[in-house]
Parts: sequence; structure tokens; C-alpha cells
Amino acid sequence: MARKVIIDVDPGIDDAMALCMALSNPELDVLAVTAVGGNVAPAQATRNVQAIIEQLDPSRWPRLGAASEPDNRLAVDRRSLYGADGLGGAGFVVAERQHLLPSEKVICDQVRDAPHSVTLIALGPLTNIARAFLRDPELPSLVGRIVIMGGTVAGPGNITPAAEFNMYCDPIAAQTVFRSLSTKTLIPLDVTNRIELSYDLFNRLPSESTRVGRLMRKLLPAAFRGYRQQFGLEGIHVHDSVTLAAVVHPELFTMKSMAGDVETQGELTAGATVFDRRRVPAWRHNMEVAVDVQRDAVVEAILHDLCAVE
Ligand code: RIB
Ligand code: CA
Repeated sequence: MARKVIIDVDPGIDDAMALCMALSNPELDVLAVTAVGGNVAPAQATRNVQAIIEQLDPSRWPRLGAASEPDNRLAVDRRSLYGADGLGGAGFVVAERQHLLPSEKVICDQVRDAPHSVTLIALGPLTNIARAFLRDPELPSLVGRIVIMGGTVAGPGNITPAAEFNMYCDPIAAQTVFRSLSTKTLIPLDVTNRIELSYDLFNRLPSESTRVGRLMRKLLPAAFRGYRQQFGLEGIHVHDSVTLAAVVHPELFTMKSMAGDVETQGELTAGATVFDRRRVPAWRHNMEVAVDVQRDAVVEAILHDLCAVE
């Protein structure tokens, strides 16, 4: 039985790559892909989700959710990494579609239709998840599991010295989700930063005769340019693909039960994820956190899952 998942994304080229993996994987039943602002503004994120799904044209289209402005967004500009449109200037023409429902409503409806059996995969700021929880207070206990890309345990942030991007964009939403009674898994930068894909990736992509192959060849060069220009790297991090790999191949990750929360007020620390790692912790454990990864095996799993095109 394929695993029911909802994928919340702020595309972003690494989000697009994770969607390619998910929509090609027969083990996953992608019920919905919901857009959230982050790498790009909400309206652009919605257009990018539509463009990616149109380009991939999966045999069974997921429901799509539209992003909307968060209530408490911190100003951040990520255009330099993935370009102004978030997809490296791919310039996809998106068919004007009928009115899309808001992402948080799609999440509520899909979880209500399949209580205790949906995995929510959060690859962007947690705005939609928090809103879904506020819209339907029973939802945290009805979601099977939430798997979140974001935060740091011991390492530095990537958008400020203290904070990882997804948490930083909407720290109040992140705190709402961290403090909810849902079953949570966190895949932090400490783990995702250890995976770097090199240019060899281009030799391993599916052929250009496939939709995934064409889309990835169109998007990835801009990601490599962004990483070289911004970080001086000759490779790219694929935080969202690593997180998807943790859903499909959990055996490649070492998890630890931890107590975590999110700073929402700090002048220097807003968006920082804080874990009680004292010898005698006082905070209640509220999530499992990836603390180690079989790096080479995850790279192979990502490349394999990218090539598992229909
Ligand atoms: O910090 C990395 C995360 O922020 C990734 O999900 C990337 O797509 C951005 O959303
Ligand atoms: Ca993302």
C-alpha cells in the first residue's frame, strides 16, 4: 500500500528536485502539493508549484494548494540562490487554472479524509502547517507524522548565524508546530549540510526523453551557479531531497528523541531552534531528530529515486 503524503514546498530548485523524487516513487501516494512562501513570495511559490506539476504531468495529479502571505514573516531575500523566480529563471508559462484552495484548507481536508495515515512533509516555512492546526485544533492528533526540513541542533544557521531559513521565515508558525501534540521528525541542517551533490549529478540524471530529466537539466545549472557565487562551492546542497530520503529510506538515518523549541523574539536569534541537551533535561521530548546519516547511501538513494521515472 503506497504511503499517503502531503508535500508542503516553497520552490526553490531543491524543493523541485524533492518533488521529482516523490512523484516518481510508486511507494508514495502524493495526495497534495501545497505551496508556501519562503524561497520566493507566496504567489510565486504557487505559480512554481503549478509549473513543476505541469512539467512533470504525473499519472495521478495531486491536489494543489495556494500559498498566502504569512502573518508574521521576517524579511529575507533568497533570490540570489535560486534566481528571482525561485526556479533559476526557467520562465515556465503556467496555465491559468481555476481558483486554487488555500494550502492550509487542502491540508485540513486531506488529513480529515485519511485520519492517522497521512505523512506531512514540510520542506518550507511552517506557515501552512501552523495555520492548518489553528484552523482545525484536532488536526495535530490526526496527522500520522510530520517530517520537517529545518532548524539546527548544534551547527550554525544558514540565513543568520543562529537560524535556518525555513524556521527563520516564520518563527511563530515554527514554534506553533514544535509545541503541537503532533508526531514530529526533524531533519536539521546538521544532517542535510553533509550531503553535497557534485556536477557528476548531470551524468546520473534520467535521460532528456523523460520529464524529470528535462526539468532537472533546466533547473539545476542555476542552482550550481547560485552555490558557486554565494558559497564558493563546486556542488549543491539538496536539503529537501535529503528530507524526502528520510521519509522513503529511514534506515539510512540515525534518529534521537529530543526536546526542541523555537526562539521567536531574539534580535540576533529569531528563528533559532533550541534543544534541551542538558545532562538532566527539563523539557519534555517532543520530536525525533536526525543526528546522523549514511551520506554515500543517501546520495545513491536520491539519484536512484530521481531516476525511478515512470
Ligand atoms: O534551509 C534550507 C531550506 O530553506 C530548504 O528547504 C530550502 O528550499 C529553503 O526552503
Ligand atoms: Ca524548501
